[in-house]
Amino acid sequence: MDVTADWLARLPKTELHLHIEGTLEPELMFALAQRNGVRLPYDSVEAVRAAYDFANLQSFLDLYYAGAGVLLTEQDFYDLTAAYLLRCRADRVVHTELFFDPQTHTARGVPYATVLAGIRRALTDAHEQFAISSKLILCFLRHLSEEEGFATLREAEPYLDLIDGVGLDSSEVGHPPEKFARLFARCKALGLPRVAHAGEEGPPDYVWQALDLLDVCRIDHGVRALEDPALVDELKRRRIPLTVCPLSNIRLKVFQRLSDHNLRALLEAGLVATVNSDDPAYFGGYVGENWRACAAALQLTRAELKQLAVNGFTGSWLPEVEQARWIAEIEAM
Ligand code: ADE
Ligand code: ZN
Repeated sequence: MDVTADWLARLPKTELHLHIEGTLEPELMFALAQRNGVRLPYDSVEAVRAAYDFANLQSFLDLYYAGAGVLLTEQDFYDLTAAYLLRCRADRVVHTELFFDPQTHTARGVPYATVLAGIRRALTDAHEQFAISSKLILCFLRHLSEEEGFATLREAEPYLDLIDGVGLDSSEVGHPPEKFARLFARCKALGLPRVAHAGEEGPPDYVWQALDLLDVCRIDHGVRALEDPALVDELKRRRIPLTVCPLSNIRLKVFQRLSDHNLRALLEAGLVATVNSDDPAYFGGYVGENWRACAAALQLTRAELKQLAVNGFTGSWLPEVEQARWIAEIEAM
């Protein structure tokens, strides 16, 4: 075979689409529930896993927000993030850009500063101990109002030096990017780079809106962009990366089978597609598993896998010299 498991394991990788709350494994969920005296509606880890049978994005989000209810203290956020970073090390993810959803926590009375401090401390430790670099992206929940988004931004303003950009996530259909045009304009004025989930379940028009109204530098998911040739041309012309999450797309029924996924078609269309895990504790695999599963199901060639890895670095917010260093290592493999 052209691609061996060892070669894939050694390939330097990025992760550009990862919700830290989506890395909460059932074992940690139970441990934190016990530590914090939180009651869970499940009586075992197996029962939690058995509930992970999703019909669509919303049915997943309902469980995901409920699960996050065990996260209360700075140490909880540290432990969650530290566990994820160990997975990064195992999968040779050398650079990761994480989302966090402050509104999921502040709505339960957990201060913004508590969430931020726990995540940041784990990121700093991973940089020192494992040389994993990272960026942190504050996501606004699009099922909430514009006003609530502005309140969250005001709360974040004293700590802006601790975040690297903003994003938009949660229930896509019915909550188009245009709902947050003014919020994202304010983020732009504050100098924050912007990304948005679009074209996961929502139509190509949402991708256009994210580009034109939110002025994003990356599209999260974006797999439905292929339905609109003019949009493909625009994404290509502007070299806008798409943070594709293959196993997520299968679990949330965006595609029925991995062999039906359009990852190769995105590459063939000349788009800057990348491979990411989204919410790995819920979708059955971290980044390494997404790469292995795609390589097998789509029979990706070594050249295609290298292109995906290079795209992860060019699509990242790493300085160009660091991108170039990693890309040289990939090219030499
Ligand atoms: N929040 C966590 N995962 C998400 C996804 N795949 N789409 C939208 N919002 C999310
Ligand atoms: Zn996502």
